Amino acid sequence: MKFNRPEDSPVEGIDSGNLPKHIAVIMDGNGRWAKKRLLNRVKGHEKGMDAVRTVVRTCREIGVSVLSLYAFSTENWRRPKAEISALMTILHRFIESERDEIHGNNIRVNIIGQKERLPEDVQRKLNDFIDLTRDNDAMILNIALSYGGRAEITDMVKEIAGLAVRGRINPDDISDDVIADHLYTRRQPDPDMLIRTSGETRISNFLLWQIAYTELFFPETLWPDFGRNDLIELIKAYQKRKRRFGKVKEE
Ligand code: IPE
Ligand code: IPE
Ligand code: MG
Repeated sequence: MKFNRPEDSPVEGIDSGNLPKHIAVIMDGNGRWAKKRLLNRVKGHEKGMDAVRTVVRTCREIGVSVLSLYAFSTENWRRPKAEISALMTILHRFIESERDEIHGNNIRVNIIGQKERLPEDVQRKLNDFIDLTRDNDAMILNIALSYGGRAEITDMVKEIAGLAVRGRINPDDISDDVIADHLYTRRQPDPDMLIRTSGETRISNFLLWQIAYTELFFPETLWPDFGRNDLIELIKAYQKRKRRFGKVKEE
């Protein structure tokens, strides 16, 4: 499926002058979706891929610049081995089935997280996907895999401390911008919206630094049921919010 440019096809009810540039999503509730149907949790993860496809398409269609999907956390390594390996298989399959559409729609894939902890075949597939889409510039798709916000901050501190030790940076010159430049999301805008499905109202170690002023949304919908309309309604709700960034009135 190929999309028109957003200016050719504004989505009804969405103000194209006030679009979120970056949407982050904690895709939660796959296990509960499966349990409700007396299915294995893995079936929930499989069904969740349909929601991923829909959200990627919709963000691209609307004209969002960055979409960050939390697919696997550093803490998720503590899940049963069988569930982890099923998730890796699903990821493998996802790349196979979505590669052409994602590349064809000029989307650049970026992995945030400890890629080196993933199985080698998955790493190879991901690297090929990254290489294939390297020059695409319509949207960035960050896939957070073995991702932890604290690990990201720890890596950033190590990098900057290393520069300081080698005399490449003066500690007095370390600023918010320098820090942001050493995160996995360097050169990307901070999320405007963070959506966590399934009704859980926590962050679970996602993008801790980047969400300082992000608008948060916690829909009850379980991830496999999350569709185009859910996303559009949340974007409309976002557009009604007043963001103040600590100031007294919008400027
Ligand atoms: C989110 O769904 C997917 C991953 C964390 C990989 P869950 O598997 O956490 O589903 P619930 O929270 O148990 O319903
Ligand atoms: C957060 O969901 C991680 C992902 C969606 C990948 P979890 O289901 O792992 O989070 P907790 O354990 O409920 O906080
Ligand atoms: Mg969960």
